[in-house]
Amino acid sequence: MADMVKIFDTTLRDGEQSPGASMNTEEKIQIAKQLEKLGVDIIEAGFAAASPGDFEAIRKISEVVRDSVVCSLARAVEKDIKAAGEAVAPARYKRIHTFIATSPIHMKYKLRMEPQEVIRRAVEAVRYAREFVEDVEFSCEDAGRSEMSFLKEIIDEVIEAGASTINIPDTVGYRFPHEMAEMIKELHDFIGDRAVISVHCHNDLGLAVANSLYSVLNGARQVECTINGLGERAGNAALEEIVMAIKTRKDIFVGIDTRINTREIYPTSRMVAAITGIEPQPNKAIVGKNAFAHESGIHQDGVLKHREAYEIMRAEDIGLDRNAIVLGKHSGRHAFRKKIQELGFSLDDEELNKAFERFKILADKKKEITDDDIRVLITNEIASAPEVYKLKKLQINDCSEGVPSAAVTIEFEDQEITDAGIGDGTIDAIFKTIDRITGYQGRLHDYQVQAVSKGKDALAKVVVKVVFDENKPAVIGHGLSIDTMIASARAYVSALNSYISMKDMLRQSIDRPKEI
Ligand code: KIV
Ligand code: ZN
Repeated sequence: MADMVKIFDTTLRDGEQSPGASMNTEEKIQIAKQLEKLGVDIIEAGFAAASPGDFEAIRKISEVVRDSVVCSLARAVEKDIKAAGEAVAPARYKRIHTFIATSPIHMKYKLRMEPQEVIRRAVEAVRYAREFVEDVEFSCEDAGRSEMSFLKEIIDEVIEAGASTINIPDTVGYRFPHEMAEMIKELHDFIGDRAVISVHCHNDLGLAVANSLYSVLNGARQVECTINGLGERAGNAALEEIVMAIKTRKDIFVGIDTRINTREIYPTSRMVAAITGIEPQPNKAIVGKNAFAHESGIHQDGVLKHREAYEIMRAEDIGLDRNAIVLGKHSGRHAFRKKIQELGFSLDDEELNKAFERFKILADKKKEITDDDIRVLITNEIASAPEVYKLKKLQINDCSEGVPSAAVTIEFEDQEITDAGIGDGTIDAIFKTIDRITGYQGRLHDYQVQAVSKGKDALAKVVVKVVFDENKPAVIGHGLSIDTMIASARAYVSALNSYISMKDMLRQSIDRPKEI
């Protein structure tokens, strides 16, 4: 029997803390289901006390995920633990992950607590969490800069109080692999089989994966990581790199394994990139666009003669299917449904019909529809708020001469309203005209355009961040089209619809009796 390392995925919690990576409930459910298919042992679905939206997403994930443990993060405070316990209640396997900082700098300046008070709070938190679930994880936040004697003291107490996993986070990404190895070895000798040791490494010095792997070699049997290395600041340790390192270097990880179905790595990476809009860098290990592409003639020749001359892993092992079937305008509903399932999405009949309609419109304009096109088509659908305003027509003049202008038709409450306006550039003219029609005044914070596939007819994906009310957070809008201007207009209208539905949600949560 192999010595198994548990994979604890925190894409939906720490990963979501990456700037610009916030996801709605439906998007989180799609990712959670794909993580389950990937075979992760524990899904950290969010931080239940953070907001009603987080709570709802964890609860829904707890209802649909059956094979992985579903976990919520909670500070070592009663209200957080209660929210976490209630959010994961429907899960088949559930965990509460509670934490408090243990480094001198965090205790003194952030918590303003004496070390003994920190221990007392940690013990109370673990005991209270055990009232909701049997499986409690305790994290010593900033363990990487904590004193070993204090770590041992608090760990002893929380194990006694009922924690069965002790997480050692390198919260600020400070440690070097040999230091991490020493620390984990000493803690492993100290803890023995009283609890599982977990590590949670941040990537501020680019060492998160190396630190996690050295921890495994020294007794850690749970690794916390994210898809594509998403996460706070420079991110967390990348799941795909840890798993493939353990799989590829069996000579080093003797007898050690994970339960990950590595053929789901690439589909999961693509789904997370499509949903968050954060693409892994092209040269990113394992999942970057160039990770298995050989450009130079010498390399190509070598690979053709003997694959292992330049490749230490097989693209197929991570699920990178170079011969994936491409859909086109003659593809029917059956092929479309099959493709969606292959890509890891689960849609009900109504969602499938809507997505198929969009697919057909796109297929009329674009010869070949790639897997990435379909991913953005679906994620665009599930990211969109209900369409209060709908873009019907857009006409722009040539901005190279004269004043850029746009004529826009928008449908609102079954009526079509048309207006025209000018601006400092074409995009500005489009957005200002939409403002004139709808009566809202948006302020653009961010505008990003990305070509989803290759070629002249590549699908353009536009993501905008707009503020409609200075007292409310910015909202995100997504737009897709093979025409960048249409994609931009759609993105702006989608941001406005998100703003309207956010206002409705806030109103409902104010009216609703406080549950958490
Ligand atoms: O980085 C960190 O310390 C964390 C903890 C909450 C585990 O994310
Ligand atoms: Zn973290």
